[in-house]
Amino acid sequence: MSSSTMPYVIGNWKMNLDVESAMSLAEASAEIANETADDVGVGIAIPSLWIPLISSEFFETSLLVGAQDCSPHAAGAYTGDVSAPMLSPWCAFTLVGHSERRQHHGEDDDLVRAKLDAVIEHDMAALLCVGETEAQREAGNALDVVGEQVLRAAGHLDSGGLRNLLVAYEPVWAIGTGQTATPADAQAMAAHIRGLIAGLDAGSAPEVPILYGGSVKAANAPDFFSEGDIDGALVGGASLDADDFLEIVRAARQTGAGLLADDAR
Ligand code: PGA
Repeated sequence: MSSSTMPYVIGNWKMNLDVESAMSLAEASAEIANETADDVGVGIAIPSLWIPLISSEFFETSLLVGAQDCSPHAAGAYTGDVSAPMLSPWCAFTLVGHSERRQHHGEDDDLVRAKLDAVIEHDMAALLCVGETEAQREAGNALDVVGEQVLRAAGHLDSGGLRNLLVAYEPVWAIGTGQTATPADAQAMAAHIRGLIAGLDAGSAPEVPILYGGSVKAANAPDFFSEGDIDGALVGGASLDADDFLEIVRAARQTGAGLLADDAR
């Protein structure tokens, strides 16, 4: 099965940038988004504090503004958390289950699923992040581990829910390390994930964007984007440099637009 979705390139700024540099990088990212709007969905997952500022400033551009995390609860005594109803007026999407949340905040699949439900219930798309550790890959368990993460977080979604789902396959050992999965391994994983989604609803599976993440740079992005089940990238470090980010988006336009022309248009 191949995909028929538009490619997406989503920057993950993590906990970086002061307000001036955030505003100027958002402006550059909005220009990139406008330049490629017909062919690539361009988004940035930014620190919560800058969300209303950046979302309102660039509201009329094609840039998708998103959050990096969200509480599973709508409101209440949850000091330090930000809820989906608070994010919803400003955000097109929210990451859930990023491996840094799983690692540093002990998030398990049940919590990730509750967050995903909160995001979708409040009219945002959920970008579900999944990925195996180095030890799990070396033990030959990568497909099983990631498959379980996908099904435990999203296995209950019907076609309506799946319309608001994106998945990012990010091997933990490739994030911020300069190491990447091979394009063939990333493709095998993306195809596995799409197959699992097809098991939930066959009609939705080609439409769910499946991104690769983990040390994506301008130089390696085209190798991932030319794989049939990889619909773009979740980009950490390289999204903090406007020129690098632009090159990655352009690579997605070149490869992704070709695939779309074959498939969906
Ligand atoms: P990286 O981060 O591109 O810096 O490896 C990716 C991510 O954590 O989403």
